[in-house]
Amino acid sequence: MRNESIGKRQTFYAEEVKETQGNYLQMRSRRSKRLGNIKASAIRRLFGLVKQIPDVISLGIGEPDFTPPPNVLDAVKRALDDGKTHYVLSDGISELREALAKKFSRDYDLFYNPEGEILVTVGATEAVALAMQALLNPDDEVLIPNPGFVCYEPAVLIAGGTPVSVPILEGNGFKPDIENVTSLITSKSRVMIINSPNNPTGAIYGYNELAELSKLAVENDLIVISDEVYERIIYGNTKHYCLATFPGMRERTIVVNSFSKTYAMTGFRVGCAAGPRDLISAMLLVHQFTVACVDTVAQYAATAALEGPQDSVSTMVSMFDKRRRFICERLGEMEHVRCFLPEGAFYAFPNIKEFGKTSAELSEYLLKEARVVVTPGSAFGKYGEGYLRFSYATSFEKIVEALDRIERTIRKLRSTKS
Ligand SMILES: Cc1ncc(COP(=O)(O)O)c(C=O)c1O
Repeated sequence: MRNESIGKRQTFYAEEVKETQGNYLQMRSRRSKRLGNIKASAIRRLFGLVKQIPDVISLGIGEPDFTPPPNVLDAVKRALDDGKTHYVLSDGISELREALAKKFSRDYDLFYNPEGEILVTVGATEAVALAMQALLNPDDEVLIPNPGFVCYEPAVLIAGGTPVSVPILEGNGFKPDIENVTSLITSKSRVMIINSPNNPTGAIYGYNELAELSKLAVENDLIVISDEVYERIIYGNTKHYCLATFPGMRERTIVVNSFSKTYAMTGFRVGCAAGPRDLISAMLLVHQFTVACVDTVAQYAATAALEGPQDSVSTMVSMFDKRRRFICERLGEMEHVRCFLPEGAFYAFPNIKEFGKTSAELSEYLLKEARVVVTPGSAFGKYGEGYLRFSYATSFEKIVEALDRIERTIRKLRSTKS
């Protein structure tokens, strides 16, 4: 009897949803104008496809395949046992803000006051969105790296700003050309986003490039969002410089960071923003009325990540390094593929222009024929066209198998063409 009534309720609900969806389709205009041109992330779509296709290997998603360090998991259990299940201060628990302040001072000799200059956010994603909503006035222009991380442009558009693409081209080592950046600055330019180590190219901006970009920011009174989520995922002798350490930059930079990549804590959703008090307090206002505070248990886990042993980070990076070399070597051996050796993050971004197919067509072909997911470069902006992004945040064995499959598929593609 009870089951029957649940069944009826479900049918009724399903019909109601169908009807609502039908109406919704006819009423696209109910979306705000700001959302007008924003499309769902191509990466999320790939994420969905991976689940539907059997035996597929995903090199699509940018999340480490490791588990967080054991002391982080212990901290979660302890937080639950200690009843840390309530709201906390909007800017984050003091233990975490203090641990972050220590990290900036230890790593970069930068002093941020944990009271007012550090904000704990829902990943770096929220930090970027908050900065846009807190800083932009209608039509303010934001310089965005292109190709660039998929959240930047929508974050600007949702906040009512105007994204301006800064081409980050292979010919320039996937680094911005300073003359070109200068030519893109107008009286409406307000914010510049810098992301090094970079997603999707894996490039790292060196001291000189960052110094020149900083000079430009100071001369043009720009606020800079420096997305440094891959700061510790760097290879060989490369060095990461925190942008706020450059002359005149501390007072105009919001450093964005995250626990997602360094500690393999993507699902915890903890990140941070550090910057001058007026900018952080503006961001806190938006954060407070949007999410109230970041998940309390996750904040204790993040504190443990910063305060505990760091050897898991170097172990993870040396495994990424082995995969990076292998993947670039194999891709470099394939006809029509040219692969730049990335210096940071966990992505290879090979040039596939010689195939005469768009990156979306080639990625779809590889998905169907090789059952391997790689992200089309066009998902990262128009200057990403002609490239594919391979995430090597997956096991070495899977990478070997994926590249074997891709090589066979590409050979087949060539033989059908000739
Ligand atoms: C450059 C960059 N910034 C920010 C993020 C978002 O990270 P989080 O998980 O902290 O929101 C990512 C995730 O892929 C990224 O690649």
